[in-house]
Amino acid sequence: MISRTWLLALWPLSFAAGAVSRTTSLDGIYALAKRRVPAHAESFSFSLSTGEADSFVVSDVPGGIHVECTTVSACARGFYTYLTQYGCTDIWWTGSRLGQLPPDLPKVGTPIKGQAIVPYRYHFNTVTFSYTTPFWNFDQWELELDWLALRGVNLPLAWNGYEYILIETFREVGLSDADIFSFLSGPAFQSWNRFGNIQGSWGGDLPVTWVDDQFQLQKQILQRMVELGMTPVLPSFTGFVPRALSSLYPNASIVNGSQWEGFPTALTNDSFLEPFDPLFTTIQTSFISKQREAYGNVSHIYALDQYNENDPFSGDPAYLANVTAGTFASLRAADPDAVWLMQGWLFFSSAAFWTNERIEAYLGGVPGNDSMIILDLYSEAQPQWNRTSSYYGKQWVWCELHGYGGNIGMEGDLDALTQNPIAALHAPGSSMKGVGLTMEGQEGNELVYDILLDQAWSSAPLNLSSYVDQWVARRYNVRRLPKSALDAWRTLATTVYSNKDSGTQAAIKSIYELAPALTGMTNRTGHHPTAIPYDTNSTVLVAAKALLEARSENPLLATIPEFAYDVVDVTRQLLSNRFIDHYNVLVATYNSNATAPRNVAAAAGPLLALLDDLDELLATNEHFLLSNWIADAKRWTHGADRAAYARLLEYNARNQITLWGPDGEINDYASKAWAGLVRTYYKPRWEAFVEYLAQTKEAGAAYDAHVVSAKMIAIGQQWSNGTWGTGKGEGWGTRGDTSAVAARLVEKWA
Ligand SMILES: *[C@@H]1O[C@H](CO)[C@@H](O)[C@H](O)[C@H]1NC(C)=O
Ligand SMILES: *[C@@H]1O[C@H](CO)[C@@H](O)[C@H](O)[C@H]1NC(C)=O
Ligand SMILES: *[C@@H]1O[C@H](CO)[C@@H](O)[C@H](O)[C@H]1NC(C)=O
Ligand SMILES: *[C@@H]1O[C@H](CO)[C@@H](O)[C@H](O)[C@H]1NC(C)=O
Ligand SMILES: *[C@@H]1O[C@H](CO)[C@@H](O)[C@H](O)[C@H]1NC(C)=O
Ligand SMILES: *[C@@H]1O[C@H](CO)[C@@H](O)[C@H](O)[C@H]1NC(C)=O
Ligand SMILES: *[C@@H]1O[C@H](CO)[C@@H](O)[C@H](O)[C@H]1NC(C)=O
Ligand SMILES: *[C@@H]1O[C@H](CO)[C@@H](O)[C@H](O)[C@H]1NC(C)=O
Ligand SMILES: *[C@@H]1O[C@H](CO)[C@@H](O)[C@H](O)[C@H]1NC(C)=O
Ligand SMILES: *[C@@H]1O[C@H](CO)[C@@H](O)[C@H](O)[C@H]1NC(C)=O
Ligand SMILES: *[C@@H]1O[C@H](CO)[C@@H](O)[C@H](O)[C@H]1NC(C)=O
Ligand SMILES: *[C@@H]1O[C@H](CO)[C@@H](O)[C@H](O)[C@H]1NC(C)=O
Repeated sequence: MISRTWLLALWPLSFAAGAVSRTTSLDGIYALAKRRVPAHAESFSFSLSTGEADSFVVSDVPGGIHVECTTVSACARGFYTYLTQYGCTDIWWTGSRLGQLPPDLPKVGTPIKGQAIVPYRYHFNTVTFSYTTPFWNFDQWELELDWLALRGVNLPLAWNGYEYILIETFREVGLSDADIFSFLSGPAFQSWNRFGNIQGSWGGDLPVTWVDDQFQLQKQILQRMVELGMTPVLPSFTGFVPRALSSLYPNASIVNGSQWEGFPTALTNDSFLEPFDPLFTTIQTSFISKQREAYGNVSHIYALDQYNENDPFSGDPAYLANVTAGTFASLRAADPDAVWLMQGWLFFSSAAFWTNERIEAYLGGVPGNDSMIILDLYSEAQPQWNRTSSYYGKQWVWCELHGYGGNIGMEGDLDALTQNPIAALHAPGSSMKGVGLTMEGQEGNELVYDILLDQAWSSAPLNLSSYVDQWVARRYNVRRLPKSALDAWRTLATTVYSNKDSGTQAAIKSIYELAPALTGMTNRTGHHPTAIPYDTNSTVLVAAKALLEARSENPLLATIPEFAYDVVDVTRQLLSNRFIDHYNVLVATYNSNATAPRNVAAAAGPLLALLDDLDELLATNEHFLLSNWIADAKRWTHGADRAAYARLLEYNARNQITLWGPDGEINDYASKAWAGLVRTYYKPRWEAFVEYLAQTKEAGAAYDAHVVSAKMIAIGQQWSNGTWGTGKGEGWGTRGDTSAVAARLVEKWA
């Protein structure tokens, strides 16, 4: 147990920065109540009081419930605490159920008090803006922002519309539109252009209409963030520039960045304007003042990443310190209160380059400790703060990564998510100032994200067994919740979500989503593991059966969207794991029997049938549909030449989740468990693979991995060019009944 007095003693230090929002209007919280609990909006009142930390008190008052708070964010959190703990309702990625509060509001009795244990509760990874939200409209953002605010997030990243300001800035220094647009990347790939990993587009240039629309959307997003008591983390100028800047400014210090993944030089090696060049500060000042003009004085915290999967031009510590000194000086020239926020992924992913000496030099170039916030991006599995003396005193945030490329394999370690942030906060000399979610894709495994944001309001590690029970009770929120529903989650929480295997942390990839090959697919560990660190029969299978049993006991459960989602998800994981077994049979058959092509086809039977079943299952739920991803993308089509714009958007949407690059540069990195994708893409790839295996058997020829991989890329290129809705059975929306399909499939694949 952590001593409470000790915690309180930390407060003055923790709030030294004072960089987070001091918005004092409660209008946004009243609007939130009206939006989410319209029937009871009049019964809630809020007031601000003074105090250092984010804290709240919820109490009964005549005619309703009152939330007193020290910040607007704490008011949202206090409201949420009442809605979840007393109202047994919640807001999920799959929708808000807060409207289902009981008609007579439960009284709280003894007032509930809450206090954040850290000043920053952060959300988003730069790449979430491409993996999850690239095609969102404001309705989707509204749900997200309410989800964040209610959970107490006060520091969300806000990348939309970046290009609008950047283009204006680049024009001002004399770059032509041709120079600028040949540098920017397509609608589904902007994150990596922002990181300086890639430049330019494949499948068509970024449309101006897209840039304008995203700018308008950003205005709505920022206004709402501020209303909800959040301080947006805004973009800034990073140093990455169009190649043509060198010709315009022949004396400017511009270097070529390193190559990213397998991309050809034309699409990577982005030009980087060295921060010590005076032109850097000129551009930064222009960028930030344009941004302030467009959005108002909403934040002093700026996201700025220069070396995320890019190596610096030099590893000389003096050079690295010079880069940060120049960069920070440019921020402060533009905004005297600027705080620099960066993702710390590089310190793990490029650990060989980023020795402690170099990290210390790089961070040391920035004067003071409150001047920076480092996101310790992968704290749940690969923390870096503990090898860098707590980032040498700079502020940092304990972050959960998870969800690579939007992969949703069930996995997590609830113990680590509850105990480790508390331990890190109390480590000697700790400069940890926040917790945050930095998932690449925000889908699936919602439990492991909820729990970390809840931990941010509890000074002792949460009690997992009671946490999980309460989480399930409000997730399903039916009268007479069958015990089997709780049992399903108790089983998952103590197995799949208690993963201690360091080789398989963060989302586990399903092998059916990978380009088929004879070797190297199973038992992968590390980045994108495919090894399954638990026994499926006693975990996922048990949970799937228990959920179906619960549904039989109380048919009302079938009407709960989150229940339907979980039934699909757990059944999906069962089928996904079973696929590995059938794949192993196929490989063993191919390897062990030199004479019978027919046996290869026979061994492939169950594997291909499983993909049909999986597609049928996923098609029953709106959250597992390729057609929604494509429809969301094409929704942005308007203006002149709509047909070409629609084609470009659909190509972007399709290419990212498959080839990820014109020629499969990071093939299948962002694969998805989506109906439509399984049937029209994964299955044809496996069929082609099986056909190839049978052919080589027939011909007595050797297996050639290069031939197989070239076939798969060709299939991807053709598929990326497709138009959904033109092929056989390519519909929009869901079909089939989740419970019926899941019941049949769980029995079949048990
Ligand atoms: C670049 O530097 C050279 C040598 O110092 C100088 O002669 C030239 O005028 C400079 N060009 C510009 C565009 O500043
Ligand atoms: C950067 O790469 C471009 C394209 O290959 C090349 O033309 C240019 O000379 C390079 N610049 C530097 C400074 O190496
Ligand atoms: C691109 O980066 C790679 C190193 O990552 C380097 O070898 C190559 O020379 C660079 N190309 C250009 C044109 O700068
Ligand atoms: C922006 O807000 C800060 C306080 O957060 C204030 O000091 C500064 O003067 C404001 N700047 C403008 C341009 O309004
Ligand atoms: C950074 O390096 C440049 C070029 O060598 C030099 O002019 C500048 O003074 C250095 N800045 C700092 C802060 O060391
Ligand atoms: C930091 O913590 C992680 C996870 O607990 C551990 O694996 C790693 O060895 C630690 N590193 C150092 C340098 O202590
Ligand atoms: C920053 O933190 C480090 C480590 O705690 C400390 O040694 C240093 O004095 C601090 N710097 C400032 C300017 O407070
Ligand atoms: C956690 O909560 C459960 C159920 O409420 C209780 O039985 C258990 O003792 C608690 N565990 C701890 C460590 O407090
Ligand atoms: C994967 O690992 C499991 C358990 O360690 C082992 O039984 C199996 O043979 C391995 N499969 C492959 C293809 O290496
Ligand atoms: C899991 O159950 C399946 C089907 O009953 C069985 O074939 C398999 O051997 C079981 N696996 C383990 C590890 O017990
Ligand atoms: C090998 O092929 C023979 C003849 O087709 C068949 O009877 C036998 O079952 C096959 N063995 C394996 C391990 O597939
Ligand atoms: C995809 O479409 C592009 C542009 O229309 C075309 O150049 C390319 O050949 C097509 N590729 C395939 C494999 O259909």
